[in-house]
Order: sequence, then C-alpha cells, then structure tokens
Amino acid sequence: MTRKILVTSALPYANGAIHLGHLVEYIQTDIWVRFQKMRGHECHYVCADDTHGTPIMLRAEKEGIAPEDLIARVHKEHTRDFAGFLVAFDNYYSTHSDETRFYSEDIYKKLHAAGLIEVRSIEQFYDPKKQMFLPDRFIKGECPKCGAKDQYGDSCEVCGAAYAPTELKNPYSAVSGATPELKSSDHYFFKLSDPRCQAFLRQWTQGGERLQSEASNKLQEWLGHPGENKLTDWDISRDAPYFGFEIPGAPGKYFYVWLDAPIGYMGSFKNLCARTGMNFDDWWGKDSAAELYHFIGKDILYFHALFWPAELEHAGYRTPTKVFAHGFLTVDGAKMSKSRGTFITAASYLNEGLNPEWLRYYYAAKLNGTLEDIDLSLADFVARVNSDLVGKYINIASRCAGFLTKFFDGTLAFADAKPLADGAVASGQLVAESFEARDFSRALRDIMAIADRTNGEIAVAAPWTLAKDETQRAALHDICSRALHGFYVLSILLRPVLPALTARVARELFGLERDFAWSDLAALPTRVNAYRHLMQRVEAQQIDALVAANKESLAPAADAHSPQRHAEHQQQAEAKMQQKSEWENFISIDDFAKVDLRIARIANAEHVDGAAKLLKLTLDLGGETRTVFAGIKSAYDPATLVGRLTVMVANLAPRKMKFGMSEGMVLAASDAEGKTAGLFLLSPDSGAAPGMQVK
Ligand code: MSP
Ligand code: ZN
Repeated sequence: MTRKILVTSALPYANGAIHLGHLVEYIQTDIWVRFQKMRGHECHYVCADDTHGTPIMLRAEKEGIAPEDLIARVHKEHTRDFAGFLVAFDNYYSTHSDETRFYSEDIYKKLHAAGLIEVRSIEQFYDPKKQMFLPDRFIKGECPKCGAKDQYGDSCEVCGAAYAPTELKNPYSAVSGATPELKSSDHYFFKLSDPRCQAFLRQWTQGGERLQSEASNKLQEWLGHPGENKLTDWDISRDAPYFGFEIPGAPGKYFYVWLDAPIGYMGSFKNLCARTGMNFDDWWGKDSAAELYHFIGKDILYFHALFWPAELEHAGYRTPTKVFAHGFLTVDGAKMSKSRGTFITAASYLNEGLNPEWLRYYYAAKLNGTLEDIDLSLADFVARVNSDLVGKYINIASRCAGFLTKFFDGTLAFADAKPLADGAVASGQLVAESFEARDFSRALRDIMAIADRTNGEIAVAAPWTLAKDETQRAALHDICSRALHGFYVLSILLRPVLPALTARVARELFGLERDFAWSDLAALPTRVNAYRHLMQRVEAQQIDALVAANKESLAPAADAHSPQRHAEHQQQAEAKMQQKSEWENFISIDDFAKVDLRIARIANAEHVDGAAKLLKLTLDLGGETRTVFAGIKSAYDPATLVGRLTVMVANLAPRKMKFGMSEGMVLAASDAEGKTAGLFLLSPDSGAAPGMQVK
C-alpha cells in the first residue's frame, strides 16, 4: 500500500548560520524521507526559515538593512548549506509569506470564534529610550540569587537560577543600556487552561503512540495529575515595533513568532501544492488520511506537543500523527563552543573540503530514535568513516571490481543465484524496520554486518592469489561476482544515508540509468563497468583545519559584521589565494601514471658492509624479485623488516651503486628538514598483496 506521508523539520531562525547541531535534525529527517521515497511511498518534505521576532528585527537594524533583506540573504545561505549536505526538501520556504499569513489569521480567527482567545492587560519591562517592550533575553542585570552581574532576564548562567525579569537587581536594557520601566499593555492569550484544551491534550498525548516514551513522560509532567490544571494560558501577541504579522482587528499588536512558526509548515506545504497541483485539504483537513510527522529538537517539545496540536484541533485542522524529538549535539563530549572551535558551521565544513556524506554516515551511526544527546567525537569520526565506510564498504568494490573487468569483460556470474537474491530481500526487510523506526544506528549495524561477511568471504577466497593462476578463473569469477553482489546490496541499503555516492555506484559502476530503488534488492546485477575511485579517507589534519577555521579569537569586537572582522576575513581570503598559487605546479594524471607503484613484500633485509646509511632489501613483487638499496638504516633494524609489505617504484631506471645494482626504490615519509623527525616506511592496509598496483 502506498502511504501518503508529510514530513517537516523545525524551521531554523533566519538570523544565524546553520551549524552541525542543526544538521543532526535535517540530516536525520532527510534520511528518513529518502527511505520512505525509496520504498515507493508518496512522501513530501517541507521546511522554511523562521523569520519573525525581535532578535531578527534588531539584527537587521544593527546591520542597517531592512528585515526583509536580512531574511532574503539568510534564506540563500541556508538553502546553499542544506543543499551542500544533500538535504533534499521538496520545498524550502519562508514564514514571511502570504500563505503563512493566511493560515495564521485563519487559525487565530477560528480560535477566537471558539472562545479560546482572551485579552488581558499585563505589566512588562519597557525600554523608554528605544521605545519598545523588551523580551526577557534583552534585559540584563544582577542575579537575584547570587548577585552575578550581566545576567539575562530569565535565568542566571552563573548559579543556574530561573526567575522573572522583574526580580533582577539593577536591570538594564541590552538594546540601549537604559533602565527599563514597568509598563502595562493589552496582550492576547490562547486559553490553554480551558477545560477543552486540557481534555483534548490528555487524550492526545496518551493515545496512539504519538510521542516517544521520554517525551510522553515530560508531557504528563507538564499536564499534571488528572484533575489538576497545570497548563497556563499562552501569550501570543507582541506590541509594535515587531517584525511579524499584525493581528487582524488589533492594530499595533503582532502575532508572537512562535504562533506563526509552526503554521509555516502549512504555509510551505500550501506553496508546494500550488506548484504541484496537490490538494491542501487532503493533507491538512480534519479527516485527512495522510500521515504527518514533525522532526524537532527536544528543546521545542512544549511548542509542538502542547500548543500546536491544541491550536490545530480547535481550529478544525488535523493534528500530527507523531512528533519525533531528538537530543542535542555535543562535540567531544561538551557543548559546542566558539572558543574551542567546536561550534562548527555547515559552511565551514564544506569550505574545508570535507565530504558531507562522511557526516551523514557518522550521524546515522549515532542516531537511535530517542531523545538522548548525540556526541560527535572528532577522533571517532575519523576512525569510523575510515574503517567502516572506506575500509569495509568501498573496499569491497575497489578490491574486486577490477578483476571482473580485466578477466571477464565486466560480466557477473552466479552459480546459485536464488539464495543470494532471497538473502538480500531478507536483509532489506530487517534494515527497513530499523529505518522506519528511526533507529539508524541499528540499521547501519546490520548493514555493516553484511559488509563484514562479504569481506570475510573475500579474504578466504583471496582473489588476488586466484588471479595469478590461469586454472582458477572460475573460482575468481565466482568470488568477485559474489563480492560485487554484496556491494550492490550494501549500496541499495545505504542509499538513504549516502545519496550522492550510491547514485554514482548505480550509474557508473552498475550502469543503471537511475538511482537504486528498494525493490532492486530482489534482482542480481549482471555486469559492472571499470571501477573508478569512489571515496577518500578522512585525514586527521582535515579535522584540525576545520576546528581552526571555527575558532573564534577571544579578542574583543568579535561581531561578525564589524569593519575589523571584515578586514580579518579579507586577510584570510588572501592567504587562501596565496596557498592556492603554491599548488599551481600540478602534474597531469598522465604524468602520474608513468610511475609504476607496486606493493612489495620485503623478503630479506640486511646490512651492507661499509655503507653508513643503506640497507640491502630483497623485494618480492608477487613472483618477480628486485634488489634495492634503501637509505633507511638509521630508522630500521633489518630483522624487523622481513615479511613486511611496503610500496615501491617498480619502473625506476636501475642504478649502479658502489655496493651493487639498485632496481627500484621504496617509499618512506620524512619531514622537509632532512629526517630529523625520523623515517617512516609506507605500508598498505591489510588485504593488499605483493605485485598489486598502487594508483
Ligand atoms: N525557529 C525555531 C523552530 C520553529 S519550528 C516551528 C528554532 N530554531 S533553531 O534554529 O534554534 O533550531 C532549529 C532546530 O534545530 C530545532 O529543532 C533545534 O532543536 C535544532 N537544533 C539546534 N541546535 C541543535 C543542537 N546543538 N543539537 C541538535 N539539534 C539542534 O528552534
Ligand atoms: Zn546567579
């Protein structure tokens, strides 16, 4: 049965850059959506920028631009960043839109007609200089509990106390510095305390597994015991000046940003309907048979599991099928920090040339569908991407595809095809259950178990040895075909996580003219094209550079738009350009191809009488042997070298030396200054065999 599924991610604020914390949510949602689409369901993924509110208004003012210009610029940046991480929204819109205004007014009017809106006068801090009411975050002062200076109006960062802004000692406006005054004005409230809301929310939050168990427990806490009424009315209006939608029939009063933000989900979808001809009411009407899911961070559960369903219900719309909350990202076990360089922006990650699919893979390996925080351990990131993604998955194709094209014209042959296809379908079932349940970590464990099995079979059959024996062609064909079938299955199962890589596998390697579908598991691939390099390993230095790029100097005036900051950027950009010109002495791939690099086994190593620096090596190239004099005596005891694999230049012109003929060269790393840091002979990953080409 084809399901109709509408999916949202929370709308990011339009005054800041997307960072790796945000991406926990958008990558997670994108994986789930891609999975649903691959299974053949009708699934739409919408999102938008959350554009209203005081911070955005003040930020634009500070930059000397209109809020409309700020949100237009940020919209471009967000769109670019999401595309860079392969987050494929069906629509990425803005809450500052006619559609969102329409549904905000509509819902407000319906709640009003239902008697769920009330006007009350309240007293609040007012900035007499700036002539505006101040949100709690824009009032500072001394903590009423511990006396710490310069604390925000809602809580103290020193002692953790929570309080009302009116309790601060010596309060001042963070906008103008003026001493705020208490002033009263009329505010509009959504009556969450109304018995109808109470009754509805109790039923809604308990039935239907709409919330994860941790979230459901939180909700019960907020609702209180049956008979208790712990919910309080919600203030949905703000006074001018405010960047947002004016409330119909209430001049000078604006909808609070959190009123129109979730309505932005509807606005974005309505906009998509206009483009595609879908019927909005089929999805949002009271009797809609479609499924509706909101992916959110646990910090905004209150808005999505209390206010939002209560609003929708009493305005005559359908309510969400489920709300999926996730935890927060930590980096190396701590909150992201600008001074440590772990507040990493999406743009910097891409600018440093890191592969977005590495992060998608890492997050998927960590996400398990609960509210637990997830930790990005930078060392673990490098290790896991290199060992699993490159070492286990990519390696299968890179080791075996070449034999198929070299000896069998790219065709695959299966002695017993049915069990292979059946096994793939069964694995698919198992993995699909995990994806559906958003337990991506379990999905990847099961997927990597397939990779382990396949690699195990390859190691036992040793195709690189079989290839040397003409009489073993059938066995070689069999193991390589089975290995490539494993790679095919893995690629299908990994498609939601690695959409770009697996698109290349489908098209370039297996010659399909489309991306993989889940149903491809039931078929067997018949041929492969020549293997082309698929994915690089992560280098630890790339991570160092990423952290360095995000390290904010603790110098004052760190405002992103100050002239000083601008000059710094200019300098950095120029430094980058210079770096580039140093690299302009490129060689072509043809130049490189002239060097015949081979894996060699050190069959023997010995001292050379009278030579201070040289060792005499006998190298086995998989049949052929070579004698090489290598200047590595200072770093290696010959006895420890025997049996080791290394890399040699096999077509270096032989050179007559004082001690004999040297027929090649082994490769070793050293520092530029002349080996003061030592010498390090290269060695390949396990699996490489003497004679293999290195390219
Ligand atoms: N604008 C509101 C959401 C309105 S939805 C109708 C908002 N914006 S946000 O930019 O602060 O966050 C957007 C989403 O990213 C939220 O779901 C939030 O929980 C998530 N994350 C932001 N920082 C995060 C981490 N460090 N870690 C994980 N998720 C994080 O809230
Ligand atoms: Zn305090």
